Amino acid sequence: MTKGVLWGGRFDAEPSELMFLLSKSTHFDFRLASLDCRGSLAHANALHSAGLLTNDDHQQLVAGITQLKEKVDTGQFQPLDVDEDVHGALERGLTEILGEELAGRLRAGRSRNDQIATLIRMYLREGTTKMISLITTFIEALARQAEENISVVMPGRTHMQIAQPVLLSHHLLAHAWPMVRNISRLEDLAKRLGASPYGSAALGGTTLGLDPQQVAKELGFTSSVPNSIDGTSARDVVAEAAYVMAQIGVDLSRLAEDVIFWCTQEAAYAHLDDAWATGSSIMPQKKNPDVAELVRGKAGRLIGNLAGLLTTLKGLPLAYDRDLQEDKEPIFDSCDQLALILPAMTGLVSSLSFDAGRMKSLASAGFSLATDMADWLVKQGVPFAEAHDITGQAVQLCESEGIELEELSDTQLASLSPHLTTQVRGVLSVAGAIEARSGVGGTATARVREQLDYLRHRVGLS
Ligand code: ARG
Repeated sequence: MTKGVLWGGRFDAEPSELMFLLSKSTHFDFRLASLDCRGSLAHANALHSAGLLTNDDHQQLVAGITQLKEKVDTGQFQPLDVDEDVHGALERGLTEILGEELAGRLRAGRSRNDQIATLIRMYLREGTTKMISLITTFIEALARQAEENISVVMPGRTHMQIAQPVLLSHHLLAHAWPMVRNISRLEDLAKRLGASPYGSAALGGTTLGLDPQQVAKELGFTSSVPNSIDGTSARDVVAEAAYVMAQIGVDLSRLAEDVIFWCTQEAAYAHLDDAWATGSSIMPQKKNPDVAELVRGKAGRLIGNLAGLLTTLKGLPLAYDRDLQEDKEPIFDSCDQLALILPAMTGLVSSLSFDAGRMKSLASAGFSLATDMADWLVKQGVPFAEAHDITGQAVQLCESEGIELEELSDTQLASLSPHLTTQVRGVLSVAGAIEARSGVGGTATARVREQLDYLRHRVGLS
């Protein structure tokens, strides 16, 4: 029986079983099989253009590869235990269809080194498009919640302490912008993924007069790589993809953490929808935010994939080394994990219901209007350092009296500073504090509406 192993002429003995097990990669690289068939079609055309295939052989090869690709795409063709890797499995498949003589012609002028370097780029080019679409849907979910809750107020926090009132919509959109940047990172990465290594062969190019630009064009790349050694050995683009995916995971984990906190009994800002929560096997009352926790956990895994890949690449001599095979499992895993967690976060965000009353009742807690008092004093001509000090003393007085800033009596205000007239009370309201922050990017309702429109326009949502 034909084996999917592409070497052996200079060997007397069969590979040891354990060596073969270590070497074998079909269990993870077979997902590249359809792309490998597309590469083979382009390569067959390049061989024909270079006069290395007769018209008849070329036609038969193209028909054979097309048939094999259909079998791959429908799951009828699967790797066998005897296949070393995706390339070997496919050559076995093609041999079964066309016979050894014709199938054996396809390998001329290419190496698994330039094949695999091209395939991983093709895979990631498709992957970036899919990810951009998943991220856009996620942004849409945030934008919808922001719109539905446009004027709901919440306590804004720094250091986890209540700091200033903000709009919930403003806070939700703050989780959308990192995702906009991630889209632009993916778009930028796609440019670097646009150079095809096909034609680099093992490392130095080929003697057979094949045109790498022809193959690149046929496979939808912008160009072929300018340096064949770099083409076969570089995996920085794979590491870059792993970084962007880790960053997406980290950004999602920050929203996940917010959701976990919002749903605690202590905060009680939001309620999880039953469909997006889990229960406890022992505590009947529990409703847990496992989706958010799993997403937070996956961020660690995505960072691990990046760290592992960079560690594999560190110090690798040029050109191709077999270590490079280790790029695939982590990058495939990162793609798979994101395909799980981005839609899950979209579902979680869309189904959250917020307790506007609860958030409003906390929005002015912790003297969160103190900055407004200090800013008001500045508008009366008081230097900010002095205004800061006067307001600090007002907070101290309120704390000792057990009252809020707006509850200070006329005499108490006057005792703190002659500048502190009773008119200050006009700015000591949550709504006033929000609407006063009306600079571009601020939390005032009109600015958040403007931001929402800009966000939608930026990511192509209507
Ligand atoms: N499976 C390898 C990889 O993923 C490609 C095969 C190259 N093998 C070789 N012995 N040169 O990188």
